[in-house]
Amino acid sequence: MRKKIVAGNWKMNKNFQEGIDIANELVKDFNPSDSNKKLVVCPPFIHLSALAELFDKSEIGLGAQNCHTSGKGAFTGEISSEMLKSVHTQYCLVGHSERRAFFFEDNEELYQKCKQLLVKEIQPIFCCGELLEDRKEGEHFDVIEDQLEVLWKLSKTDFEKVVIAYEPVWAIGTGETATAEQAQEIHAFIRSQVAEKMGETIAENTSILYGGSCKASNAAELFSKPDVDGGLIGGAALKAEDFLGIYNAL
Ligand code: 13P
Repeated sequence: MRKKIVAGNWKMNKNFQEGIDIANELVKDFNPSDSNKKLVVCPPFIHLSALAELFDKSEIGLGAQNCHTSGKGAFTGEISSEMLKSVHTQYCLVGHSERRAFFFEDNEELYQKCKQLLVKEIQPIFCCGELLEDRKEGEHFDVIEDQLEVLWKLSKTDFEKVVIAYEPVWAIGTGETATAEQAQEIHAFIRSQVAEKMGETIAENTSILYGGSCKASNAAELFSKPDVDGGLIGGAALKAEDFLGIYNAL
């Protein structure tokens, strides 16, 4: 059975002490309801090591927000998958729309990042999603199809470690959530693409998360859809109570 996951992307928020405070609250209040339902926190790099220690005895998973395409070397300011692994990182976002837009990450680069992570047994959370213009022009399926090309280059064994997150760019940080029907339509499309390229069994086992203004008040409706296996949460992951409220809707 595929995993249900609620992952929090802190983006560039929380200084060191603020991060520790929220992580402590999560550890204190998190009640894992079922071993198939995961809670994952993706903080900035500076928090990873401390949060790995805090989460050690809890069931909370730890993810990073980015890694470099190379294993090591003269890449000032960058972080490798090996470094992430050394602080017990289990997941890493790849291809978030903010990285595509502000850091011009393209399919080839995203493929290299996935490979680096998979070599170190870190699970990529691969993000895809269309712009508002794409949707207005009826091109959203084509855009997603193109973004997913990255994943078809992976072996089946590698692909099985990947979590997919659908995040329509027009819904990120805007307060405008996709309707549960819109999310379901795209998630079903993504799953059908996985079935076509990787086979039915792998498609059934792939977790596909929704992201974009997801909060405790709308999570239950989104998660009730058959192909929505959880959420990738931005703003509402910055308060433990709100974040756990979303988890409890799984
Ligand atoms: P918001 O939940 O703030 O819309 O952000 C979603 C997101 O980008 C998570 O990666």
